[in-house]
Amino acid sequence: MNIFLVGYMASGKSRLGKELANRMGYDHIDLDDLFEERYRLTIVDFFEKYGESNFRKMEHELLQEVVNRDHTIISTGGGTPCFYDNMSCIKSNGISIYLSMETPALVKRLCSVRKKRPLVNRISREALLNHVEKQMEQRAFFYNQADYIVNVTHQETDDLVQQIISLFKKENMQIRVNPAGNNPSAD
Ligand code: S3P
Repeated sequence: MNIFLVGYMASGKSRLGKELANRMGYDHIDLDDLFEERYRLTIVDFFEKYGESNFRKMEHELLQEVVNRDHTIISTGGGTPCFYDNMSCIKSNGISIYLSMETPALVKRLCSVRKKRPLVNRISREALLNHVEKQMEQRAFFYNQADYIVNVTHQETDDLVQQIISLFKKENMQIRVNPAGNNPSAD
C-alpha cells in the first residue's frame, strides 16, 4: 500500500511525507527530489531549458514508475495530480491525502520559497494572492478527488502525523514498525 500526499505548492507535502514515513516505517519518495536526481537539473533549470510540457511528461513517467512500489509515502509535486491521468493513477495505486491549506497561508509560505518554484518565481508578492486563487480554482477539482482531505492550515507537522496515523489505525491499515525503533505510535 502506498500513500500519496497531494496539494498546492508549499502546503507541506515533503516535510509531512518524510515525517510520516519515519513514524510509520514506510519508505519516502519526494517526486520533485527524484526528478532533480534523475535529470541532474533543478526543476527551475529544467523548466527554463525544456519548458513545462516536457516537465509534465517526465513527471508523469516518474509517477508511473513509483506507483509500483509498496509501503511508500509519495510526496507529489503540486501539479502532479492535475496532468495526464495522474490522479486516477494515484487513486488506483494507494490512499491519497489532500493537504488543504487556506490561500492566504499558502501565499505567505510561498513568498519565502518561491525562488525554487518556476511557476511562481517571477510573480510579485502583490500579485501572488490573485494568482494562487485562480490556480486553485482549476486545481481544486483534482485535489478534491483525494480519499482524504486534511486541513493543514493551522497545524504543526507533529500533530498532523498523529492525526493521519490515528486515521489509518481506525481504518485498520497495517503500519509497519520502524526498524530504527523511534516509532512509538505505530503498531
Ligand atoms: C509545481 C509544484 C512543484 C514542482 C514544480 C511544479 C506545480 O512542487 O513540481 O515546480 O505545478 O504546482 P511542490 O508542490 O513540491 O512545490
